Amino acid sequence: MSETVDRPRRYLVRTFGCQMNEHDSERIAGQFEAEGMVPAHDEDDADVIVLNTCCIRENADNRLYGTLGHLKPRKDADPDLQIVVSGCLAQKDRDLVRERAPYVDVVMGTHNVHRAADLVERARREGPLTEILDAAVADDATTFPSALPPRRDQQHAAWVTIQVGCDNSCAFCIVPAVRGAEISRPFLALVDEVRRLADDGVTEVTLLGQNVNSYGRDLTLAERRAGGDGPVRPLFADLLRAAGAVDGIRRVRFTSPHPKDLRPETIAAMAEVPEVCNHLHLPLQSGSDRVLAAMHRGYTAERYLDRLRRARAEIDDLAVTTDIIVGFPGETDDDFARTLEVAAEARYDSAYTFIYSPRPGTEAATMTDVEVPADVIAERFERLRVVVERTAVERHAARVGRVEEVTVEGPSRKDPSVLTGRTSQNKLVHFASERPLRVGTYVTVAVTGAASHHLRGDLMDVVAPARHRTRIPVASA
Ligand code: 5AD
Ligand code: SF4
Repeated sequence: MSETVDRPRRYLVRTFGCQMNEHDSERIAGQFEAEGMVPAHDEDDADVIVLNTCCIRENADNRLYGTLGHLKPRKDADPDLQIVVSGCLAQKDRDLVRERAPYVDVVMGTHNVHRAADLVERARREGPLTEILDAAVADDATTFPSALPPRRDQQHAAWVTIQVGCDNSCAFCIVPAVRGAEISRPFLALVDEVRRLADDGVTEVTLLGQNVNSYGRDLTLAERRAGGDGPVRPLFADLLRAAGAVDGIRRVRFTSPHPKDLRPETIAAMAEVPEVCNHLHLPLQSGSDRVLAAMHRGYTAERYLDRLRRARAEIDDLAVTTDIIVGFPGETDDDFARTLEVAAEARYDSAYTFIYSPRPGTEAATMTDVEVPADVIAERFERLRVVVERTAVERHAARVGRVEEVTVEGPSRKDPSVLTGRTSQNKLVHFASERPLRVGTYVTVAVTGAASHHLRGDLMDVVAPARHRTRIPVASA
C-alpha cells in the first residue's frame, strides 16, 4: 500500500481589474475550496493558476500574454500545473488566447464563473478546453456569482451582486459588449443573501452593479413584489432600506450609481437609513457637455452638479468620489478646462482619474481622427490630479477633531503596531493600538491628522466586536 497521502491541490487566483472581477475571483476561489482545494502561498506552490482578466481600462492583452509567457517554462516542466484564463478578455478574444498560448488548460468567459471548478476537473481528465457562454442565462447561480459559495478575503465584509451587465452605451466602454444586457436579481433573493451573510457574521455589504440605480427595471412585477406588500418602485431605494434593516448589518455601501439615474428616492434612503454609508461614488467622466454628449452619458455638467447639490443638502456629512476620463477623442483645451471647473466645484473627497484608452469594439475606438496626443493627455492628467488633490486635502483636513466610527481592516502594511480601518465615508484611517483588535471590530477613533489619501487618529473605544467566526482550516482525513 502506498504511504503517500494526497496533499490537497492548491490554487491561486490573480485578478486584473475591477470590483466585479474581484468578486468573480472570490466565487471561483469559493468553488475550489468547496472541492477541497486550498489557497497556494504563491505561484510556484500552485497546482491551478487562474488569471482573471479585465479589459475595461487597460491593455490587459499585454499583461495577460506577458504573465502567460512567464508561466510557460513552469507548465513545460510540470504538466500537472493547470492554467485557467477567465474574465472579460477571455470572453472577448476567445480563440485568440488559445492561439497565442496553446498550453492554457481552460479558457472561460464572464458568464461561466459558476463552472470554474467543473471545467478545471474536466480539463484534467480530457485535456485543454474553451467554454464561453455568449450571454448570461437567467438562472441564479449562472448569472449571479453571488449565488455561488463565496471565499471572502475580508470575513466581515461582503459584496452582493445585484445586477450584471449594462444597458447603457457609453462610447468608451467595453462593459456592455463583454458583460451583456442588464439583468437584475430578484429582490427577495438579494434580501435573503444579505440575511445569510449576516448570519455568517458579515456586518458590511456592498451592493454591486454597473448601474445600480436602474436595478429592477427588468424584473417582472412578481419578482419586484417578492419584496412584500410595499411599493413596487423604486426598487434600488427599497433594496437599500431592506439591506439596512437586516439584523447584524451595520454598513451598506453600493457602487456605482449612474448620475442620469440617481433618483430622489435613493437620496432619501441614503439620508434616512443609518446603516447606509454616507459615501456616494458618482462617476462624472467629463465636465464638458460636448464630451458628455459624445460619450452618450445622458446628462450635462449642470445636471450632474445639481443632483450632487441635492444629495449633499439631504444627506448629512456626505463624502463624494468620482471617475474621470482624460483625453476622450476630440477633447479640446476648453473641454478639459470645464472638467477642471466642474471637478473643483464638485469638491471631491477623491477621484479615480483615467487616461482614455481605446477599447477595440467600442464606438470611441473608431474616432481615430480626433485622438488627443499622449503628451497633451499627460499634461492634462497632471493638472486634474492637482485640482482633485486640493479638495481632497481640504476635505480630509476638515475631519480633524472629529470622532469617527471605524471598522478595523488589519495592521498597517508599513507598521504592524498601527491598525488601519475605514470610516463610513470610506476614508482610510491609521491609528495605534496597544492591544490587537480583530479585523471587523468597530471602534471609535479621534481624528488627529489628515493627508490626501488617509486620516490619522487615536483609538478611543470598541463599539462592537467582530461577529464572524475565524475560519480554521480543516485537513481532510
Ligand atoms: N478608457 C479609460 N477609462 C475608462 N473607463 C471605462 N472605460 C474606459 C476607457 N476606455 C473608466 C470609467 C469608468 C471606470 C470604471 O473606468 O471612468 O467609470
Ligand atoms: Fe460602461 Fe457606461 Fe455601462 Fe458604466 S454605464 S458600465 S461606463 S456603458
